[in-house]
Amino acid sequence: MYRELSVCRACGYPNSDLPTLKQTTAGAMGVYDRMDGLIPVFDLGIQPLANDFAAKGDERAGFYPLKVMYCPRCTNAQLSVVVDPGVLYRHYSYVTSPSEALKRHLGQLSGLMTDEGLGGCSMVEIGSNDGAVLDWFRQHGTDVVCGIDPATNLCNEAKARKVSCVNSLFDVEAATTAMKIIGDFPSRVLARHCFCHIHDWKEFIAGLDALAGPQTVTFIEVPHAHELLDRVEFDTVYHEHLDYLSIGAMKALLANSPFYLYRVEKFPIHGGSMVLVLRRRSSTQKEHPSVAEHYEREDISGDRWRVFGEHAHRKIAALAKEVTGRVSRGERVVGYGASAKSTVWINACKFTTKEIKWISDTTPQKQYKQSPGSNIPIVDPGSLTRELPDAAVCFAWSYFPEIQAKERLFVEKGGTWIVPHAERNALVAI
Ligand code: TMP
Repeated sequence: MYRELSVCRACGYPNSDLPTLKQTTAGAMGVYDRMDGLIPVFDLGIQPLANDFAAKGDERAGFYPLKVMYCPRCTNAQLSVVVDPGVLYRHYSYVTSPSEALKRHLGQLSGLMTDEGLGGCSMVEIGSNDGAVLDWFRQHGTDVVCGIDPATNLCNEAKARKVSCVNSLFDVEAATTAMKIIGDFPSRVLARHCFCHIHDWKEFIAGLDALAGPQTVTFIEVPHAHELLDRVEFDTVYHEHLDYLSIGAMKALLANSPFYLYRVEKFPIHGGSMVLVLRRRSSTQKEHPSVAEHYEREDISGDRWRVFGEHAHRKIAALAKEVTGRVSRGERVVGYGASAKSTVWINACKFTTKEIKWISDTTPQKQYKQSPGSNIPIVDPGSLTRELPDAAVCFAWSYFPEIQAKERLFVEKGGTWIVPHAERNALVAI
């Protein structure tokens, strides 16, 4: 049900006989960057699939190796195995969170598109999920929209919003169907946080080649490995995320394609995201200065990845100690937000219902199911103020400011937030 990945997905190393790319990273090359082949840099052992939320007694997708390999040639980092997408996405329950942070972000994204002279017109979204993002763009001046998503349940939700959706993985055929729906080449293609889930990047580029007209601009939003390393956000390492992308890796991937990296912009959403803007090589637009600026600043190396791994294991130990310490003092500890990240933390910390009683979540598809691996029950979001536990681990940490504001009563009644990756002193920050 999974296969090993022994070749870099971005540049083909070590199979390709291309010379090692110039290391443009701000840091010096270390021991790890001089090693041959793909280098193991972070290992969480055997883990469940992060979104395999299932009802009690339902069939589970099982456990798979979760290890990151670093490519010293193009600085891409990728998982050591690819889980069969039929297994990975069979019962997919990830739904784009309808948060204030997302609305703010879409406003900023829309601003970037306007800056590129792309107001109104049409948009195709790859990985359109439940259609919420396209619905937002339609309400903010985009005339025609169409989504493409492999999850049938989510496509149906998009259609209920009156957002047209092609129920398929993204390939040439899906691109052609989407074009028939919108009646022309789209002015914009958007792919938010799905690029590193894509099993075959060559097929993605072929699909984009079919979809993008001479003037189409493509916006690919991904987490930047640079920030992942800076903030030690190891909880974004799970089986759906096949790659931890760098600008160097994207350049390597596009090297022999009809597209080039035209612009790079950073945004604060999800603890730091990067939008890679692609144009056709035939475009007359010159590369935007932001590409060189961000590429020069990109500090990614095998040694940084190794340090990241050590730091991540310290964070895991710190959360395990914090929670087990509280439980042994008789406190009731719960989780807030059954994010995929929560699965990574919970399994890395080896928590069971003894440590985390339940996890509340706003997503109806997750409620009354169980967290993968630990079988911790997922409950409705009202549980926090109804049951007033002593402490709650905010596993939806990237939304913490709005959650804290929304759940004021919890703290007023004596509850304590434990927040992964937080830097504020007033909280129990991990
Ligand atoms: P995400 O980080 O992958 O978007 O997942 C966040 C999870 O947290 C998602 O399942 C929805 C949940 N959530 C809440 O339960 N309450 C909230 O206020 C927010 C913003 C998210």
